[in-house]
Amino acid sequence: MGHHMGIDLGTSACKAVVVAQDGRVLGSGSAGYPMAQPRPTWAEQDPREWWRAAAQAVGAALKEAACGGDDVTAVGLTGQMHGAVLLDEGDTVVRPAILWCDQRSAAESEAFEARIGRERCLALIANPMLPNFTATKLLWLRRHEPAHLSRIRHVLLPKDYIRLRLTGVRAAEVSDASGTGAFDVANRRWSSEMCDLLEVPSQWWSPVSESPQVTARVSAEGAAATGLAPGTPVVGGAGDQAAAAVGNGIVAPGMVSVTIGTSGVVFAATDGVVRDPLGRLHTFCHAVPGNWHVMGVTQAAGGSLQWWRNAFAQPEQAVADATGEDVYDILCREAALVPPGSEGLIFLPYLMGERTPHTDPAARGVLFGLTPRHGRGHVARAILEGVGQSLRDGIDLIADLGCPVREVRLTGGGARSALWRQIQADIFARPLRTMRGAEGPALGAAILAAAGTGAYASVSEACAAMVHVGPETRPQADGIAAGIEQGEVYRALYPALRPVFAQARRAHPE
Ligand code: XUL
Repeated sequence: MGHHMGIDLGTSACKAVVVAQDGRVLGSGSAGYPMAQPRPTWAEQDPREWWRAAAQAVGAALKEAACGGDDVTAVGLTGQMHGAVLLDEGDTVVRPAILWCDQRSAAESEAFEARIGRERCLALIANPMLPNFTATKLLWLRRHEPAHLSRIRHVLLPKDYIRLRLTGVRAAEVSDASGTGAFDVANRRWSSEMCDLLEVPSQWWSPVSESPQVTARVSAEGAAATGLAPGTPVVGGAGDQAAAAVGNGIVAPGMVSVTIGTSGVVFAATDGVVRDPLGRLHTFCHAVPGNWHVMGVTQAAGGSLQWWRNAFAQPEQAVADATGEDVYDILCREAALVPPGSEGLIFLPYLMGERTPHTDPAARGVLFGLTPRHGRGHVARAILEGVGQSLRDGIDLIADLGCPVREVRLTGGGARSALWRQIQADIFARPLRTMRGAEGPALGAAILAAAGTGAYASVSEACAAMVHVGPETRPQADGIAAGIEQGEVYRALYPALRPVFAQARRAHPE
């Protein structure tokens, strides 16, 4: 039987996997690209770099799996959500893509929501309007780069640019479209009313399909660049979070995943549209046809630890360079020497503003409670714990909306650290399951390809055969107690600082 391929266009690299019918990953490849940050909370990438990396990653995955393009039955795409890929009449990139974590459109997003009202926003797109969403990036362009805006004829999401280069076809699918701010999530179609309010032509968006549906086939050019066979079907795929959820078997109510990548996400599958009246959680279409999900997002989860590594971990990096060890393992070892609660040091992970639970682009990272006693290990541990507290906010909100939380599965780079796993189990005060052989969103995209081209009858059936659950991490009493004590101060900090964040933003506008 044939294999399936998942291609995941991440924020720092593109990863491709070749997956067997039973979910085993036979080969993987990845290739990276830089992220430009021309201003503190801006984030841009060149879509042409993505395509170069994707072609390289696919070639490497095929090679490692020792298979030819003909052995791949179908391809699924996934990737970072919300980014605006802006194309002109001839599908040429107009300017670098503005990414999910870019906060430049905060003023436009707030002004838009103030004009139309949050209730109308929630009614039309099931969410508030946020600076992360693609549409607000278009509002920013109208005000700041009208010459670029006037050349735009098509707006694609990041993974859909890979589809265009791979197949020649412009297409979108419901889960990723949900994060544009122009999509009627409840009815799984573009919102012409919202497009009118945004003054964005609805023809700019591509035709939308369900995630497992075949949208296009690999073209001769796409085949020449990647090594895939011409004519290979490419299914809709999904935004990275919905794809990761499929890869973790989160396809029915009661199942919740927590994923720590650059961002951190708490994701719960729902069989109806659950809206948070205060807009603190996202309500998006799931990659499972006829299903939705709610999701809480910590903007800088792994991103917070990455910041600490980049800005301050030169000593640990020197050890890593000398020993060949992973620098994150060294940081976690230092953190493990500090007791739960980091002896009063608290980190708010709001380096890139925050979505859940504050939806406040003006929020900023905070290290609170520093004393001369605190050293490098304390800061590392406080970062791991602060991200855990932020994710706990997401779990609590989901439960408060009446969504059952029966089983929590932990994935992403953060799940690889035994210490971070324990910290999260303690702060959530719940047992957590990790996944066996987890390859995150790329595996989910391959599962969607398998479900959409006849290997399985449905996404759920494909998950039952292809997803394998791993060991459990149980919370420990002293960690739970420290998490509760820390959580009380952690949750008092943002309300106290909110006016100060706003004041600082007025002093230092984007
Ligand atoms: C989801 C989100 C992130 C990005 C990058 O809303 O913003 O998951 O897709 O991973």
